[in-house]
Amino acid sequence: MSGAKPGVDTAVDLGGIRLRNPVLTASGTFGYGTEFAPFLDLRRIGGFVAKSLTLEPRVGNPPPRIAEAPSGMLNAISLENVGVDAFIREKLPAIPDRVTVIASVFETEIERYAEVCQRLAGVPGVAGIEVNASCPHVKSGGIEFGQRADLLGPLVRATRRASEVPLLVKLSPNVTDIVEMARVCEGEGADGISLINAVQALEVDVETRRPVLSNILGGLSGPAIRPIALRMVWQVARAVALPICGIGGIAGPEDAIKFLLCGATAVQVGTSNYLNPAIAGEVADGISSYAERHGFARVTDLVGALESWQI
Ligand SMILES: Cc1cc2nc3c(=O)[nH]c(=O)nc-3n(C[C@H](O)[C@H](O)[C@H](O)COP(=O)(O)O)c2cc1C
Repeated sequence: MSGAKPGVDTAVDLGGIRLRNPVLTASGTFGYGTEFAPFLDLRRIGGFVAKSLTLEPRVGNPPPRIAEAPSGMLNAISLENVGVDAFIREKLPAIPDRVTVIASVFETEIERYAEVCQRLAGVPGVAGIEVNASCPHVKSGGIEFGQRADLLGPLVRATRRASEVPLLVKLSPNVTDIVEMARVCEGEGADGISLINAVQALEVDVETRRPVLSNILGGLSGPAIRPIALRMVWQVARAVALPICGIGGIAGPEDAIKFLLCGATAVQVGTSNYLNPAIAGEVADGISSYAERHGFARVTDLVGALESWQI
């Protein structure tokens, strides 16, 4: 049962992707959707972003590849996924009707990113593509595509050309100037921007005197990164006209509402799915209740409604 209040219009348009409400789940934290179906009616949320796909199936880093962190977690799962063809053949058909699915793509070279997008283009059930720009560019010595404008521009251009479905670009927070990267996406024809991915981090075990992760570096996610994510969403919303999908540490409805107020049109729930697999539904219901309680007829009226201090 959806908790949407009768008087509140919860629908949003995320760069051409129509969502029944603004709550998605984040790539890599929600499998291919079906894993969570026993715990959450997927029609209660706006949709989900599937685990990022590569051309061929990949195994990720060896363990240990996840660890606890204060108010969050570290992960270095890397490229593990079933591959784009198995996703289309086996995973998509298993998803119930009327569930909005956004496919996520990552690769190590631009041509390969574009090839994955081409294979997804026009596949029934794929409402949009999210390009994960946090993958290391092998030819540039491992720097993430989303960390350099001269890598990000050609990536967005090539993936834009590869498919006509709505294209979101998911930015890396591991940059000095997130607005510069958002402007690159806008200039190259992206339909929306998702931000943020996990924040690059390191944790150490003093007993073994080793990094806790086999990969040494990992991505920090969960409530620890939420204020960073809010800051970046706010900065980008002021600088570009594209719709934004806010991600980072959402653990309840209030957190999601903060992202909407800072200018996000929709949000994604990530790490919190591990603590409560039904959390995304609760977030969706809570946004609707908040809108009703505060006299907003439409959830879109909350977008960018942050008040400033009058000094
Ligand atoms: C275990 C794990 C795996 C992830 N895998 C992906 C992935 O494949 N693609 C991607 O774009 N982001 C991936 N992410 C990043 C999340 O989608 C999200 O951007 C990040 O965790 C911040 O949101 P959160 O604090 O709500 O988790 C992953 C995160 C975690 C914790």
